[in-house]
Amino acid sequence: MVDKVQVKDELFSRSPVFSHLSASLNGLSTIRVAEAQEMVSKEFDSHQDLHTSAWFLLLETSTAFGFWLDCISVTFTAVVSLSFLVLKSDTFGGNVGLAISQSLILNGMLQHGVRLTAEVVNQMTSVERVLEYTKVPPSGWPAKGMIQFEHMNLKYCPTDPPVLRDLNFSIQPSQKVGIVGRTGAGKSSIISALFRLVKLEGTIRIDNMDTAKLGLSHLRSRISIIPQEPVLFSATLRDNLDPFHEYPDAVLWSALEDVELKEAVTGLDFFVNEGGSNFSAGQRQLVCLARAIIRNNRILALDEATANVDPQTDALIQRTIRTKFQQCTVLTIAHRLNTIMDSDKVLVMEAGIMVEYDHPHILLQNKQGHLYKMVQETGKAMAEQLHKVAEEASIQEKQPHTGCDRCVIPRLLVQWNCMQIGALWNTLDKSKVLTVYYADFGYSVDKLVSYMTNLIFCSSLATVLSAYITP
Ligand SMILES: Nc1ncnc2c1ncn2[C@@H]1O[C@H](COP(=O)(O)OP(=O)(O)O)[C@@H](O)[C@H]1O
Ligand SMILES: [Mg+2]
Repeated sequence: MVDKVQVKDELFSRSPVFSHLSASLNGLSTIRVAEAQEMVSKEFDSHQDLHTSAWFLLLETSTAFGFWLDCISVTFTAVVSLSFLVLKSDTFGGNVGLAISQSLILNGMLQHGVRLTAEVVNQMTSVERVLEYTKVPPSGWPAKGMIQFEHMNLKYCPTDPPVLRDLNFSIQPSQKVGIVGRTGAGKSSIISALFRLVKLEGTIRIDNMDTAKLGLSHLRSRISIIPQEPVLFSATLRDNLDPFHEYPDAVLWSALEDVELKEAVTGLDFFVNEGGSNFSAGQRQLVCLARAIIRNNRILALDEATANVDPQTDALIQRTIRTKFQQCTVLTIAHRLNTIMDSDKVLVMEAGIMVEYDHPHILLQNKQGHLYKMVQETGKAMAEQLHKVAEEASIQEKQPHTGCDRCVIPRLLVQWNCMQIGALWNTLDKSKVLTVYYADFGYSVDKLVSYMTNLIFCSSLATVLSAYITP
């Protein structure tokens, strides 16, 4: 058993040595540019120290195991031989010899058997490690785009105070969330935490999967970002839109058409200069937007993407996001309050702490609130317009829409058609309705209770009615 633990330790401490070495060799030029040779060699030494310790422990436990097996064998042979002296004195010499030679063979077989068993258990460690790979998330992850922050703290430097402190909030699938706050409040750091660009404490879950347990490349490839400073490579437009050449030309053209860049370029082999200097700032962001459309991820993050574009491009970006990313969870770090006033929720940050998080219309009711003050600071005319946008968005949200599972019950209550209630209730997957309700209203107890009351009312009504309807 001890042997097995040691083999596991040895295996687990061996892989970091190899992966560190190959990563260092691949990134030699980066290490030299960043003058990080000393740091990297220290890291390598610590990985190697750990592996050497595990290796020596493995050697020692194997030796100790062999020694104790030998002790048992010697004791057994001694007991067999001495028993002839103690028990019977007139045993035939040939029999004594036979018993000793047989016990020696038996010892050899026992030792061999025990060693083989230990060996099998050790080799099975590799199977165990292969099984670990089966736990990676399915290829369609994240299917919904639900994000949960749980007691999340973020520090850029271990000795500094945390930049984000005890963040707790959840974003439901396909919600549009605006993040606002003064410069340095930690808005961009939330996006960095989502991508795990820095070490953090606490948990961030996407579709109930802890992002710390995922490979970084896997996690990062599933979230699209339009950064404040759009990054373009000096390569063809095709390489910029689809760096790994995964999509056909038709998809790339359709994305370019969506962002109205089709006319601005001569073809997919159009060469983009270093840093995208032959594009304007707005066009660079449109290329980033096209890139996000092509990847078609469930989660999109925009970091003050509208900060340096003209109002028309801004409007185009906002419109495209509303149509193309309707089913996606979108986090917008807002530079202009008007872009997020119709969001489902607004998160107000102050000095790394979440101070408000709710629908903008609800937040604007609080005259002492942070969002209210921020809106007032934009001037009287603008503030009025922002209030109006938030109010209209809240009215739109309250209106029952039809066509999906979660609307069935409110729709029934509105239409009040008894025959329909009876018929629909029987076709309804009740557990699904409950799950949708539970997930949809963010675990808010009062809303859940009120909808549960509706559900119970509806179900009793339907039972009574179906008794009448069925002959
Ligand atoms: N890479 C970094 N290293 C150290 N500190 C940083 C880094 N990025 C941001 N910070 C600090 O974190 C705080 C929040 O920054 P940031 O999230 O960029 O704010 P915002 O986007 O709201 O303007 C700031 O005080 C800033 O100094
Ligand atoms: Mg920022």
